[in-house]
Amino acid sequence: MIRKVAVLGSTGSIGTRALEIIEACPDLELHSLLCNSNIDLLMKQKKLYAPSVTAIASPGGVCPDGVITGQGILEKVIDGADTVLNAIVGSAGLRASLICRDLGITLALANKESLVVGGELLRAYITAGGVIPVDSEHSTIFRCLHREPRPVRSITLTASGGSARDIPAWKLQTAGVDEILNHPTWAMGARITVDSATMVNKAFEVIEARWLFGEIKIDVVVHPQSIVHSFVRLEDGSWKALMGKPDMKVPLQYALQYPDRILEVISDDCPLDWGTLEFSELDRQRYPAFNLVVRAGQDGKSWPVAANAADEVAVAAFLAGKIRFGNITAVIEEVLAGHKACEISDLETVMKADRESRFEAERIVRRLC
Ligand SMILES: NC(=O)c1ccc[n+]([C@@H]2O[C@H](COP(=O)([O-])OP(=O)(O)OC[C@H]3O[C@@H](n4cnc5c(N)ncnc54)[C@H](OP(=O)(O)O)[C@@H]3O)[C@@H](O)[C@H]2O)c1
Repeated sequence: MIRKVAVLGSTGSIGTRALEIIEACPDLELHSLLCNSNIDLLMKQKKLYAPSVTAIASPGGVCPDGVITGQGILEKVIDGADTVLNAIVGSAGLRASLICRDLGITLALANKESLVVGGELLRAYITAGGVIPVDSEHSTIFRCLHREPRPVRSITLTASGGSARDIPAWKLQTAGVDEILNHPTWAMGARITVDSATMVNKAFEVIEARWLFGEIKIDVVVHPQSIVHSFVRLEDGSWKALMGKPDMKVPLQYALQYPDRILEVISDDCPLDWGTLEFSELDRQRYPAFNLVVRAGQDGKSWPVAANAADEVAVAAFLAGKIRFGNITAVIEEVLAGHKACEISDLETVMKADRESRFEAERIVRRLC
């Protein structure tokens, strides 16, 4: 059966790879495209892949013919799809995930922020099997848990250490944008690349894993080669892992075709190319933002919403050259210190906490500039 796929965030790092997979797999058909503002690339994609719906969330000027925008845009992009790939960056992705939940459409989830800020709202849909993870670590764990008796002892997320891994501690505070965007193993969008350098991304993944897999012990180890994409430790003490060179097309194809496995060879990989595989403990002193965000996740309520909003504002300010790399952690810390937590009961409560935390983060950034 042909599966119609909506690609939200089609102009991004994940979105563009997904389009190549859809084109290569005869069982997948592109239903719709959505981006934020990159109209030039969107128009190229429209011409090349001819989707039924092409949409833009935030048009700068006139909307070209055949492209829709405005009120109810997400519903129009999602309606008629069998699977939605949510590859929007940031908490802006939550609304799309909630529409998938409400319509009962399978959600291939790259937008980890949906779970960081709105995990509670997606809990029942995850339990019902509506959410298939795309993040490479979570895709690995999802696959490793398949047909395994529960409970398992623990899961271990691997972390490359990001671009800041080899920068000496004394230089880290003032590391430049080019240096931080130069990730050693993964080619990704700007925000997640910066988040990998601060380890905020790994903290988000800990929160994401808790929502996806329930109350399991979660560890993190640094694995610079990014060949082992995470581990599951079974009750008998043995370890299960998925290995291969870093390539997001592997978890993407798995999520888009799940539960079918119509294999197209997309990775030409050989263990002889991998070299030595190393694992080491995460140095939590070097990555203070990791502790702050993991703690926010443990505290629940709106704490992770505040942490994410602060990080989004701080990362944008760093990329714009307004604040230093070291200030990202300072912004998160200060926003969390002043946050008045509330229960998360619906999208509105998430958006309110998000708005207030952004406002506060922007005030702190202005002071630091
Ligand atoms: N890249 C990876 O390898 C990777 C791996 C695991 C998980 N993820 C997760 O996947 C998500 C996307 O990451 P990415 O690296 O692909 O980011 P990216 O390259 O920055 O792309 C982000 C995409 O989201 C679109 N977008 C932004 N705001 C939007 C809005 N309000 N409405 C609709 N579309 C919007 C952008 O459109 P414009 O181009 O028009 O701005 C772009 O298409 C993130 O949550 C990230 O954490 C990424």
